[in-house]
Amino acid sequence: MDAISPQTLFTGQQLVWLPECASTNTEAQQLVVQNRATDGCCVITDKQTAGRGQRGNQWEAAPGENLTMSVVWQPAFLPAADQFQLSQAVALAIHDWATALLGPDSGLRVKWPNDMYYGSQKLGGILIENTLQGPKIQYSIVGIGLNINQREFGVSTATSLALLTGRAYELTTVASRLLESLERRYLQLRSGRVGAIRQDYLRVLYRYQEEHTYEVDGRQVRGVIVGVDEVGRLAVQIAGQLRYFDLKEIRYV
Ligand code: BTN
Repeated sequence: MDAISPQTLFTGQQLVWLPECASTNTEAQQLVVQNRATDGCCVITDKQTAGRGQRGNQWEAAPGENLTMSVVWQPAFLPAADQFQLSQAVALAIHDWATALLGPDSGLRVKWPNDMYYGSQKLGGILIENTLQGPKIQYSIVGIGLNINQREFGVSTATSLALLTGRAYELTTVASRLLESLERRYLQLRSGRVGAIRQDYLRVLYRYQEEHTYEVDGRQVRGVIVGVDEVGRLAVQIAGQLRYFDLKEIRYV
């Protein structure tokens, strides 16, 4: 098997491959605490036994068939108040990576805040854990789970690259391309091109400017997603009123 060898300046240049671990985010965190993680360090595993997802959910992935990894960055340039920009950049990096594999206009969308969806099926997700130091981000652990070669899922709401295209992928190759994609968007953010990131994010946002049903305060309402604000809240037009939602305050129906 080829090694993971991304053509990057720093992202994935320090690679920690673990045959098994509880969670790559937790492993990455430990490396940082022990002062053993350089900027861009990537922890990757074949098998997670306690993978974590957003909203306190678990992340399940068949061992050896998927990408399960965490990247450590030190975005000293990014104020803590702007941390959603990093979340957008990472979501776009994954979208770029998937587009290179699936082709343009593949129908792949970013479901707010940063799930990767094909139609109503999830291809992957991101769990970013930032450690703040006053108004700054000391370090950021970007956990990424992407379904690659797995073809059977316990739920009908999941998909994989293999299911979408009917072929199998070399994990080391797709991991290298992903690290390159991540670094490109990270550098775009670092160079201050935030307007482009914002624009690109809206362009690939699931249900953007379409009317759909949502559950808010236990009630179903019709609404139109019109954007996201600077702290990452979803802006939805409901019954002539513009409302902003945090992750737990709105559910897609
Ligand atoms: C979600 O969609 O809920 C986010 C899923 C994030 C899963 C990845 S897998 C690698 C990293 N380690 C974890 O424990 N979680 C993230």
